[in-house]
Amino acid sequence: MQTYKIAVIAGDGIGPDVIDEGKKVLAGIAEMDGSFKVEFTDFPWGCEYYLREGKMMPEDGLSILKDFDAIYLGAVGYPGVPDDVSLQGLLLKIRKGFDEYINLRPVKLLKGAPCPLKDVKEEDIDMIVVRENSEGEYANVGSRLYPGTEQEIALQTGVFSRKGCERVIRYAYELAKKEGKTLTNVSKANALGYSMVFWNEIFAEVGKEYPEVETSSLMVDAASMFFVKKPARFQIVVTSNLFGDILTDLGAAIAGGMGLAAGANLNPERKFPSMFEPIHGSAPDIAGKGLANPLAAIWSVSQMLDFFGQEAWGKKVIDAIETLLQEKKTLTPDLGGTAKTDEIGEAILEILQR
Ligand SMILES: NC(=O)c1ccc[n+]([C@@H]2O[C@H](COP(=O)([O-])OP(=O)(O)OC[C@H]3O[C@@H](n4cnc5c(N)ncnc54)[C@H](O)[C@@H]3O)[C@@H](O)[C@H]2O)c1
Repeated sequence: MQTYKIAVIAGDGIGPDVIDEGKKVLAGIAEMDGSFKVEFTDFPWGCEYYLREGKMMPEDGLSILKDFDAIYLGAVGYPGVPDDVSLQGLLLKIRKGFDEYINLRPVKLLKGAPCPLKDVKEEDIDMIVVRENSEGEYANVGSRLYPGTEQEIALQTGVFSRKGCERVIRYAYELAKKEGKTLTNVSKANALGYSMVFWNEIFAEVGKEYPEVETSSLMVDAASMFFVKKPARFQIVVTSNLFGDILTDLGAAIAGGMGLAAGANLNPERKFPSMFEPIHGSAPDIAGKGLANPLAAIWSVSQMLDFFGQEAWGKKVIDAIETLLQEKKTLTPDLGGTAKTDEIGEAILEILQR
């Protein structure tokens, strides 16, 4: 029988609370299905570990993780540890070390989910944002010169390699072709005359191999405006690391909020494990109170199931989330309910069993 080995890094704040619910759902599905098993191994890495050990994860953390089928991550970051330390020391280390160069973020308004936009129907917000995840503006290349003086300078450089741009753009074209959807390229070539002109050239070059895919290009500022004014014009979106990061938070806001936004960090070649996570942070303001909404973490389970080739279960999980939202019986306070975090996994399983 197939056993999926999953490394769990629940992390900080609400991370452990939401991940517990995702684990419940995944374990329940494996039991219902009967043809595969899941095996979780928990790693206590994150900010508490940092305060004890002086690092977010062990030096050989990547070699410990490399033979797992997937990594399931909650959130990292907590007051007392600088955010750049928590991000660089764990999340970015894994994304870069395992060449998880695709960040796949569904922006889909499920039936029953709250939407702050007026006159918008569910079918108007249904897109997948393909964000470059390994280089670009987040390559963290730069320098600080003359610290503490009047001449102090900070330099931060974007890194756009031909290979890096081509592979993410090609992934987006392939996805658009497979799903029969349009592809929107989001960049900013008027202001970023080197990196984004290069990006756009590669978008056009790769596009020659996909004459059947209908494309359009937008500047990131215009794209942000259209996410709000006319979200229906987007189906598959491809963009750079920084622009994708910002646009997908906007995407989360129009499609139910942070409690409903998931993201997959994929190494499509499967040379290394891919990582699945809710995109929200550790929410220290509500940690330990049972208030966190675990639906984003459960949506990540759906993305993991898709990646394992269990797409039928992946879809059932999304349908179950939709049913839960429509029934409005078991929802956390951010969605107007009174349920506690640890009631949600059970409620999803109950819907799946119907
Ligand atoms: N992927 C990650 O691990 C990740 C992502 C973003 C931020 N962070 C870290 O998390 C910490 C807090 O960051 P932040 O406050 O900017 O962002 P956040 O996402 O943690 O919280 C923003 C707001 O959304 C609410 N919220 C977030 N997730 C929720 C959920 N599941 N259910 C209900 N409400 C939810 C919070 O209560 C808060 O009011 C920082 O240390 C930051 O560096 C980590």
